[in-house]
Amino acid sequence: MANKSMVIGFSKLTREQKRDFIASLFDNHKGAAAQLDCFLHSDTSLQKRFEEFSENTISNYFLPYGIVPNILINEEIFHLPMVIEESSVVAAASNSAKFWASRGGFHAEVLGITKMGHVHFLWNDDPEVLFNAFDEIKDRLILEAKPLTANMEKRGGGIMNIELVDMTHEIAHYYQLKVSFDTCDSMGANFINSCLESFAATLDGIGKALSHGKDSLQIIMSILSNYTPECRVKVWVECLIEELDGLGEGMNGLEFAKKFELAVKIAQIDPYRAATHNKGIYNGIDAVVIATGNDFRAIEACGHTWAAHNGRYSGLTTVDISKGKFCYALEVPLSIGTVGGLTSLHPLARFSLELLGEPSAEKLMEIAAVAGLANNFGAIRSLITKGIQSGHMKMHLQNMLNFMGATDEEKKRAEVWFKDKTVSYKAVQEYLQKS
Ligand code: MEV
Repeated sequence: MANKSMVIGFSKLTREQKRDFIASLFDNHKGAAAQLDCFLHSDTSLQKRFEEFSENTISNYFLPYGIVPNILINEEIFHLPMVIEESSVVAAASNSAKFWASRGGFHAEVLGITKMGHVHFLWNDDPEVLFNAFDEIKDRLILEAKPLTANMEKRGGGIMNIELVDMTHEIAHYYQLKVSFDTCDSMGANFINSCLESFAATLDGIGKALSHGKDSLQIIMSILSNYTPECRVKVWVECLIEELDGLGEGMNGLEFAKKFELAVKIAQIDPYRAATHNKGIYNGIDAVVIATGNDFRAIEACGHTWAAHNGRYSGLTTVDISKGKFCYALEVPLSIGTVGGLTSLHPLARFSLELLGEPSAEKLMEIAAVAGLANNFGAIRSLITKGIQSGHMKMHLQNMLNFMGATDEEKKRAEVWFKDKTVSYKAVQEYLQKS
């Protein structure tokens, strides 16, 4: 690798020039350029579209697109698309899907769809002046944002409420416009941010008038919140305790349920375990969110904030094994969309939505949350029985064999050989050397 020096005007270069500059940093620059090029799409207009999703694009980055078949949600069957690089996630969700399909499937209910955003500002004058004028201010904010909201209103959504919040107990002179939105089937980030910036401009003008030309009002920023506790979904599974018989080797249903309950309780009281427990949930949720062209960073930020809403970061699932039943539930905020953004521009996101039967945003919330619960159920089931490593390493075997350049024939034989053996990097390396 050559010494890296500063590059000026990189963004102005063509894709090929950017590629060549980056490739020139490698010892084998022709090889590096070829490697970047081999992941380009053969359809040049599609390739251009991918490039334009982001900036300074020099190639595409592939991830596996897998399917969890036959997942039963509210009595409807879905074949769930998942984009994820981690082995075992699709397998875990598929096993859970199969297990629960014969026990009533997954149940789901959307609890709300309200999204939030704020204009953060300082008011350096008498609070009463602001609060007394607020009804009028609100009408002006809504009126002046009409060009932005008209379309959303036609679709049945728009601005739901605007509150003036006094935050001066936290920061001197600090107030918020706290705005709630209904963005229908879109995730709505652009709509919300545009509305908020319009409110900020209106408020700025009003502030000057209210303080008689003085600059008593200062806008700090206007931005949606990725924390959407009122855009929330609940999903759950339930069965008789006896129906869990055989899930854990040597355990009857009740023993399994009790151990499962303990594992869930540990995630509720210990943030170290909670983070991992929730990570397993987001293995499933993110994979569906990515497959449908939604923003997984927003989803995670929201979920982890929600996980701390009781004052302590906790596992997101709850279990109830009283009354002879096993009930396992996940309640999680999920702000996702099925129209707009990447959902219509990325061909595989479009494909996923078509495969799912063109769901509404609410239905997609249910589906993604189910993927989270399915993965988490599979993870806890493994953790309290045989552990995750045996299954995980078997799946990982393929990755290792590929990394070590094994042929298809060697891979087939290795799979058979390692069926009853511990998989480790060293063991696979030794096996390949000997075979
Ligand atoms: C691995 O990606 C996810 C798990 O660690 C989740 C869990 O521990 O619950 C298996």
